[in-house]
Amino acid sequence: MTASNHTPVMLEEAIRALAVAPGGRYIDATLGGGGHAAAILEHSYPGGQLLGIDAAPEAIEKARQRLAAYEDSVLLVNNNFSHLEAICLKYDFFPVHGILFDLGLSSMQLDSGQRGFSFQQEASLDMRFNPAQKLSAADIVNGYSEAELARILKDYGEEPFAARIARRIIGHRPINTTTELARLVETAVGGRKGRIHPATRTFQALRIATNGELENLDKALKQAVNMLGFGGRLVVISYHSLEDRIAKRFMQAEARDCVCQPGTPVCICGHVSRLRLLSRKVITPSAEEVKANPRARSARMRAAERVVNQEVFQRSAEKMFFLDERAWERRQPVLLRQALRAWAPV
Ligand SMILES: C[S@@+](CC[C@H](N)C(=O)[O-])C[C@H]1O[C@@H](n2cnc3c(N)ncnc32)[C@H](O)[C@@H]1O
Repeated sequence: MTASNHTPVMLEEAIRALAVAPGGRYIDATLGGGGHAAAILEHSYPGGQLLGIDAAPEAIEKARQRLAAYEDSVLLVNNNFSHLEAICLKYDFFPVHGILFDLGLSSMQLDSGQRGFSFQQEASLDMRFNPAQKLSAADIVNGYSEAELARILKDYGEEPFAARIARRIIGHRPINTTTELARLVETAVGGRKGRIHPATRTFQALRIATNGELENLDKALKQAVNMLGFGGRLVVISYHSLEDRIAKRFMQAEARDCVCQPGTPVCICGHVSRLRLLSRKVITPSAEEVKANPRARSARMRAAERVVNQEVFQRSAEKMFFLDERAWERRQPVLLRQALRAWAPV
């Protein structure tokens, strides 16, 4: 999420957690307006490279303009980060020193009123990050059963009135616009009470369901670890507890040497840690940042570093990644890339 002037959220914290350094290679998996990307390029100059990914074509265009000064060091790809590995392999962009996920939608997407992300602006119920995707929010609202709708509102919006809202939606279909849906939710829950609009959770839930956000994050994190070189950093900024839980559980599991069910007498999983948590506790924005940019208030950052289990390193194909560790330290990953190319299952 960015502020209305497109100030990136937790910028300093993200740059520090990524340990951005001159000559490094980084992936911004959620390019948005290119705010974090610009700072990564600035801090990795000279010699830095950035692969920027966004599912929204207009974000790519916006970022292309913003990053014009770094044209030769940037590769921008309009795709879903759930295809991270395939994208890296296609463009020969691995291993990398850091990967950033700044999840959700940008202020640009929210404020533009396009695609129906905001209940405050009249628009058709779309909510797709990528307009080439088939499923839209209107398909869900007007096509799913009452039970499915209630589940989505409950699971993805943590909406206490999920059943009531789902019933009201079913009784008033077709619903075509954002404001129509917002009014309907408001009446279903008995009007506006607090500071937060009653449709906030419904809109979050529909956006998550439309874009398969949680499933995509899960897929992308698994791939991200594979793309990190030794000592590479993984940084995730999330804006609601569902995303944060996925990032937290993923990093915690990857930081453990065994992920067997508690009580299993002998380890049978054979799992070895591939990450080291950089901070046990979640990192939150400073009070000054929240004051300057209230949209940052829900931001939560988690960061981890790629590690290699020495025993596994000796005998596994992972060796390929780290074939020339000194070259990696000198930030010359060419040899590593060649080695991995020979190994990588494309
Ligand atoms: C919060 S914004 C990023 C803002 C950016 N860090 C900046 O500084 O301007 C999140 C961006 O991620 C994109 N996005 C969300 N889910 C995605 C996915 N699964 N694959 C690719 N891009 C995604 C959205 O389209 C949006 O542009």
